[in-house]
Amino acid sequence: MIFNFGSINIDYFYSVPRLPEKGETLAAEEFAMGLGGKGANMSVAVARAGTQICHVGAVGEDGRWTKETLRKDGVDVEFVKVLDKPTGHAVINRDKDGENTIILFPGANEQQDEDVLAEALLQAKQGDFFLMQNETNLGTHAAHLARDYGLTVAYVAAPFDAEAVQTVLPYADILILNEVEMAQLQKANGQSASELSVDLVVVTKGSKGCSVFGKESGDFHLPAHPIEAVDTTGAGDTFAGYFLACLDRGFDPRKSAEIANMAAAIMATRKGTADAIPYASEVVGL
Ligand code: RIB
Repeated sequence: MIFNFGSINIDYFYSVPRLPEKGETLAAEEFAMGLGGKGANMSVAVARAGTQICHVGAVGEDGRWTKETLRKDGVDVEFVKVLDKPTGHAVINRDKDGENTIILFPGANEQQDEDVLAEALLQAKQGDFFLMQNETNLGTHAAHLARDYGLTVAYVAAPFDAEAVQTVLPYADILILNEVEMAQLQKANGQSASELSVDLVVVTKGSKGCSVFGKESGDFHLPAHPIEAVDTTGAGDTFAGYFLACLDRGFDPRKSAEIANMAAAIMATRKGTADAIPYASEVVGL
């Protein structure tokens, strides 16, 4: 079972001929709206990978539908609270090569309550995982608490914030980040991925695949699947959700990374975030 302390956003997608320049007004060619947020995307990925997931988070009245969408996908939403605050949202510009820029409004994601988190974790059992990222308040507290409850803490260090990462890292057993974030972390603390005192570090590298540094599993690299990417938004979240779901199902880090690598590749061939995450039946090896 995985407990995911995570953001929930309403994603507004604008397909643009190219990413806008400073001071430029640019007409979008397409618009779409859907469930997103790094936390919610990971919960959907875990659920679609066939693993039990309990999401701990917060939305506003305007985002009740996001909670319902998560529930319909098989995510336990008992600890997703509806607050008197606007739901977090993201404005996503997506260009013809599938690259993006994202502006985040955190909203209710930054109003998480310590008591709700503690109540959720009371349900955890030996061997459960705790998943988190950097789009909510209480990050360090949450990682500390989850460790105290005996959960294996998996930390997705995005959006990257050097200070947040360094305060959460002492409580993390698994660290997942992309190569830009890894370079930023190394710049901040002087340590390479293999030098970090975290049991398992996964560095995702887009079209170059991913590298895994494991104290027990050893280090290895997997190449990316050759694909025509149309939208890379949420591919990292898909990787993280699938990777953790596979570990929770008892797969070793290599097999888990292989499956996650494929799920993320499929995701990048589709437009959207949570809606575009593949189901286990589409992913070879599951
Ligand atoms: O990683 C993609 C996600 O980042 C989007 O769904 C958006 O909401 C932002 O949180």
